[in-house]
Amino acid sequence: MTNIQSLLAQMTLEEKAALCTGAGPWTTTPVERLNLPALTVTDGPHGLRRVVDVFSMINKSLPATCFPTASSLAASWDPALLHEMGQALAAEAIALDVGVILGPGVNMKRSPLCGRNFEYFAEDPYQAGVMATALIEGIQSLGVGTSLKHYAANNQEFERFSMNAEVDERTLREIYLPAFEMAVTKAQPWTVMCSYNKINGTYGSEHRQLLTDILKNEWGFEGFVVSDWGAVHDRVASLKAGLDLEMPGPKPTRVNAVIEAVRNGDLDEAVLDEAARRILNIVCRAAETPKGGEFDAAAHHALARRISAECMVLLKNNGLLPLRDPQHVAVIGRAAMQAHFQGGGSSHINPTAVDVPFTELQKLAANAEISYAAGYPEDDSHNQGLIDEAVGLAQTADVALLYIALPSFKESEGYDRADLDLTAQQVALIQAVTAVQPNTVVILNNGAPVVMGDWIDGTAAVLEAWMMGQAGGGAIADVLFGRVNPSGKLTETVPLRLTDTPAHLNFPGENGVVRYGEGLFIGYRYYDARNVAVQFPFGYGLSYTTFAYNNVRVSAENFRDVDGLTVAVDVTNAGPVAGKEIVQVYVHDHAARLVRPYKELKGFAKVSLQPGETQTVTIPLDFRAFAYYDPAYRQWVTESGQFDILVGASSADIRGRATATLCSTLQLPTILHDESTIRAWFSDPAGRELVAPIFDEMMKNGGMFSADGPEDQSIGMDMINFLMDLPLRSFFHFQETSLTQPPDDITNQLLEQVYGVGR
Ligand code: BGC
Repeated sequence: MTNIQSLLAQMTLEEKAALCTGAGPWTTTPVERLNLPALTVTDGPHGLRRVVDVFSMINKSLPATCFPTASSLAASWDPALLHEMGQALAAEAIALDVGVILGPGVNMKRSPLCGRNFEYFAEDPYQAGVMATALIEGIQSLGVGTSLKHYAANNQEFERFSMNAEVDERTLREIYLPAFEMAVTKAQPWTVMCSYNKINGTYGSEHRQLLTDILKNEWGFEGFVVSDWGAVHDRVASLKAGLDLEMPGPKPTRVNAVIEAVRNGDLDEAVLDEAARRILNIVCRAAETPKGGEFDAAAHHALARRISAECMVLLKNNGLLPLRDPQHVAVIGRAAMQAHFQGGGSSHINPTAVDVPFTELQKLAANAEISYAAGYPEDDSHNQGLIDEAVGLAQTADVALLYIALPSFKESEGYDRADLDLTAQQVALIQAVTAVQPNTVVILNNGAPVVMGDWIDGTAAVLEAWMMGQAGGGAIADVLFGRVNPSGKLTETVPLRLTDTPAHLNFPGENGVVRYGEGLFIGYRYYDARNVAVQFPFGYGLSYTTFAYNNVRVSAENFRDVDGLTVAVDVTNAGPVAGKEIVQVYVHDHAARLVRPYKELKGFAKVSLQPGETQTVTIPLDFRAFAYYDPAYRQWVTESGQFDILVGASSADIRGRATATLCSTLQLPTILHDESTIRAWFSDPAGRELVAPIFDEMMKNGGMFSADGPEDQSIGMDMINFLMDLPLRSFFHFQETSLTQPPDDITNQLLEQVYGVGR
């Protein structure tokens, strides 16, 4: 164990400044004089892009296992599986001499158009937080670090280096930060990567509130903050805000600027020391893990196949799947020959091997005659000949399998999608094939939802295979032939059309600003609130068996927020084959001071059941499961009252519910003021006690508003209701003649008294 403080004390100003900027694209700056090695970092997140020469930015990378990307992984809803994958990633990092893997990314899927959604987990912060935590814990359990990214509100690629995300405080706290918060507080990633964009006018790299106040002080983050590659604009300002390491390097002008700022008093050396301390801590920790050796590529390929199969989501099945000994199979679509298994950009991996979907299918259908047609071109052009050829094959087959991959010119890091459609040729192909072959299965490879329109109607089955990793070709065959019973469920809603999506009117922004106008209401929170029909809801996915849910119950009818609640449900495999079910728990608040989504995911469990088997699934719910963030108090708040606990197979398929009453232990100061309405004063216990007697007295004495009864005939309205919505001060002014003191005196006395009572 190195003594970090004594190491720091031995460093010169120049060495500390240099340490806080990279030595190259992928390494920190070593200090040879003190035997401090360089730390090597590498993308990330679903495999290693370890460029051979760490001093080159873009270069061929060493072979590494390409696992399924995050949108696929999330659909497994299986944290244990992600933990296992994390350990495999760490083993590869050790073999390839990498100290920190640049991932995972936990940005929310605000719009399905975000080109990088394939690298993110979910439209729900809780789900994303659980999955990221498991992956980080898996990687770090073997002494390799992670970089949780991109912090924060980086939810699009359009103008990602400069876009200003305007997002209100509550939305930030409830939607865009919790996945980071959970991962930081539970798993302590070694590093957190700031985002390129601005958040409410300030660059992610210079955002003191996000980097220091919230991340380090409030959540207790112990590692260092690294910039996204090229995200720093003013190095001194970023250091002051809490950005510890700037990447990539080398950048002598930045280092000099820091030295100069310390010398001229603009930067307190203690700030630089703190950044250097955090970096030293991680560099030394990484050095404790011996590097080198080899990883077991074959074992990791097999793991990638197992994981991919767990992530696939069966969206539609009229009973054709699993395939039962077909004699003649028409395989259509170039993705059957050239697997589309990863996305473009910084996460692009040089795989150790790639399963060809066609070949893997052949292995499992040894007795079948299998023919192939490409079906669609590589580009966006129309080619009727390819469609005609495919139709010819499909007509004479028992089954047509259509392998449809969303091309990378439509989906990648660096640009957003222009629409949610497959290419026109792909749609025409599906329609032409399904017109002649009712037994048609569409297998999709994409990182984020595609709209289906009419084409889904003619299909017998649709399998969402995602960007499935290098072994996904085998995993597709496993699922189609029932060697694996599909168990994945969606973590991003599949909408009916782009215009239905929550951020549609505010995406991707204009004149450098994107306003998060939909607020809390992204994903299913929006579709619930607006009662908008969707193609497939959040949490949805089919199996080759069915599950029955019985006896939903809670541990207490009345509970304190700090104690939380436990939900239990008996789940039975009611079908003929073994399978896995993802049980989801949503919380619905009956009433709250602030608007809340109709329901929110607060727990889930994946359970494996043999035919006929029943298991009791128990899911704990803590304080945060019931709380909302109240910007007026700048804290998480619970309110006493009733909650429904909804247990479902998806967000739209609630199978059972229980009701419990929460007792809030919070004692919040009142936020009544002179502009609060009489109604607000009445709804606050302390306020009511003070205002009610004056109100009653005045109503008796008369004055400008002396109501004859609830419905005043002279004006045709309910006077009491009208008065209730007047601000306190205005109310007293209107009533001056019925008061014994001047209205402002009464108002001020009440304010003094209520703050005395409330605080
Ligand atoms: C990406 C990061 C990535 C980094 C290094 C950036 O452009 O946004 O996700 O880790 O490059 O490749």
